[in-house]
Amino acid sequence: MVRKRTVKDIRAMKHSDAGISMLTAYDASMARLLDESGVDILLVGDSLGMVVLGYDSTVPVTMDEMLHHSRAVSRGTKQALVVGDMPFGSYQVGVREAVVNGVRFLKEAGCDAVKLEGGKEMGEVVRALTRAGVPVMGHLGLTPQTAGQLGGFKVQGRDLASARQLVADAGALEEAGVFALVLECVPGELARLVTGSVAVPTIGIGAGAACDGQVLVTNDLLGLFDKFTPAFVKQYLNLAPQIREAVAAFRNEVAAGVFPAAEHTFGSKVDFGSILQNDEDEGSNG
Ligand code: KIV
Repeated sequence: MVRKRTVKDIRAMKHSDAGISMLTAYDASMARLLDESGVDILLVGDSLGMVVLGYDSTVPVTMDEMLHHSRAVSRGTKQALVVGDMPFGSYQVGVREAVVNGVRFLKEAGCDAVKLEGGKEMGEVVRALTRAGVPVMGHLGLTPQTAGQLGGFKVQGRDLASARQLVADAGALEEAGVFALVLECVPGELARLVTGSVAVPTIGIGAGAACDGQVLVTNDLLGLFDKFTPAFVKQYLNLAPQIREAVAAFRNEVAAGVFPAAEHTFGSKVDFGSILQNDEDEGSNG
């Protein structure tokens, strides 16, 4: 019997020897494969915008797009905790709007929790969401929705002042009620410090091995997204060339009339030739 992971399970993993595994998912069939492989958390990341929808950044991603894909992932998942990423603009305008949008992820898309980017300034929003019954995962370090303000897609917390700020933000988010914290692109030693300073699990991406868990974009892990590969990504498979090869073989076989062969074609005992014969007869009578 498969038991669905809960937010409480994830929190408890802070104190277990097993690291927390989190991967992104955007559709039901991939979610099913990842879920069957035993991944703890499936994140419907707003990276959707770049790896699936073809945008240049995560900024244009809408609530409707996130809900559409989150629904698909929820349908394909039996075991993992499903976290929906709140898109840019859905939680920054006001606390009320943030709660309305956060609730939609649970009510309309079957998610178990939401994730949002930002530090201390998001405390009020995190408090309101958790009070409304929407568990929140925080996201610090490189926050792609505001990467422009951070000077681009760069490692964060490299000097003492910004490192201090990151530790303070982690404490503020914990106090506000997050159940876990993504740390993206920060030096490994700073991630170790943050991990030791908060009681909630940290989940790193480009943040070294001291975090309580690790997350990757699935399309990077599988070598499906080859526009660029960040230095912290480990590619466990390189599917892009294999896909190109398979598709070229299909195209060539169709062009040459080799596919479909007899074994891919449905047979029948009916003599369909008589249809044309009857049509011709009816035509001559009329
Ligand atoms: O959108 C996303 O995929 C993410 C992960 C990189 C953590 O936020």
